[in-house]
Amino acid sequence: MCSKLYKILITGGAGFIGSAFVRHIIRKEYDVAIIDKLTYAGDLERLKEVRKKYKFYKVDICNKIQIESVFKKEKPEVIVHFAAVTHVDRSIEDPTSFIKTNVRGTQILLDASRKYRIKKFIHISTDEVYGEIKRGDFSENSSLRPSSPYAASKASADLLVKAYIRTYNFPAIIIRPSNTYGPWQYPEKLIPLAILKTLRNENIPIYGDGKNIREWLYVEDCVDGIFQILKRGEIGEVYNLGSGDERENIEVVKEILRILNRSENLIKFVGDRPGHDIRYRLNSEKVYREIGWETKINFREGINLTVDWYLKHKGWLLGKQNL
Ligand SMILES: NC(=O)c1ccc[n+]([C@@H]2O[C@H](COP(=O)([O-])OP(=O)(O)OC[C@H]3O[C@@H](n4cnc5c(N)ncnc54)[C@H](O)[C@@H]3O)[C@@H](O)[C@H]2O)c1
Repeated sequence: MCSKLYKILITGGAGFIGSAFVRHIIRKEYDVAIIDKLTYAGDLERLKEVRKKYKFYKVDICNKIQIESVFKKEKPEVIVHFAAVTHVDRSIEDPTSFIKTNVRGTQILLDASRKYRIKKFIHISTDEVYGEIKRGDFSENSSLRPSSPYAASKASADLLVKAYIRTYNFPAIIIRPSNTYGPWQYPEKLIPLAILKTLRNENIPIYGDGKNIREWLYVEDCVDGIFQILKRGEIGEVYNLGSGDERENIEVVKEILRILNRSENLIKFVGDRPGHDIRYRLNSEKVYREIGWETKINFREGINLTVDWYLKHKGWLLGKQNL
């Protein structure tokens, strides 16, 4: 039997990717504590299959006093920092909470981590920090040119983490995953929103001409990559984490309609999102070569698994009624 190796503190563990990471890591018998504010995007239902196997703190990462008291009590060795406000459209409406949680919240965690001398801090960033690229791909050394307030807040947090690495010799690793999808994603993001609208027989809104391209990464592959980098990644480094599986948004939605056997007439083109990035594409050679990570689920399989999951969890999906 595997012994308990590390005491891990996971922020945003009730969110889409954070909860998948918790489910993944608990199977490997790590000692897990979670911090989550439980915003509209957080839901402990995602952790029901591992209930009682983790400690939970309903805490805002912007609350310095409460964060320090969790660190004091838990004495974590490793932090994996997922907590963030994540929806681009909401950041365009009002960037305030994005700057607060994604930048100030990250600083509070970095400072607590320094104070309590944690051994490793895994900062979960995003491919969106690089901005758009029409041809080719972004390496870890490409400049950060974020387009949306969301992406700018994430890029700011990355710069802060980099400054802590350089100034304080802080033991951090930055991971930049591409567009992630799969079970339990809140239905404001393209794939679950399209499934929700289809099940309700409502129009599926598609920005612009639908030709924006994203690099789709299945959530199990994403958390496996994060876990492998946590184990084998080098302190101070940045790792892109992309699948190489590029699709236009319209292609993704048509595939969902095909699986659900519904007409493409449900698609409704709407005015484009301001500042909408045309294409994201990571160069992930570093994680393939140095960590040995590779995806196990391609887009075809992943989208079928995802639609199937939502069909089996219609109650959860339709319960998110405020859309
Ligand atoms: N989903 C993607 O496609 C994607 C791709 C690349 C990177 N990321 C990054 O991965 C991380 C997780 O993304 P996700 O899609 O799971 O997000 P999510 O929105 O599903 O979950 C975010 C979680 O953070 C919690 N949270 C928000 N503000 C908080 C605060 N102030 N204090 C404590 N908890 C707070 C929420 O309650 C929620 O549980 C984020 O950092 C995001 O930027 C996401």
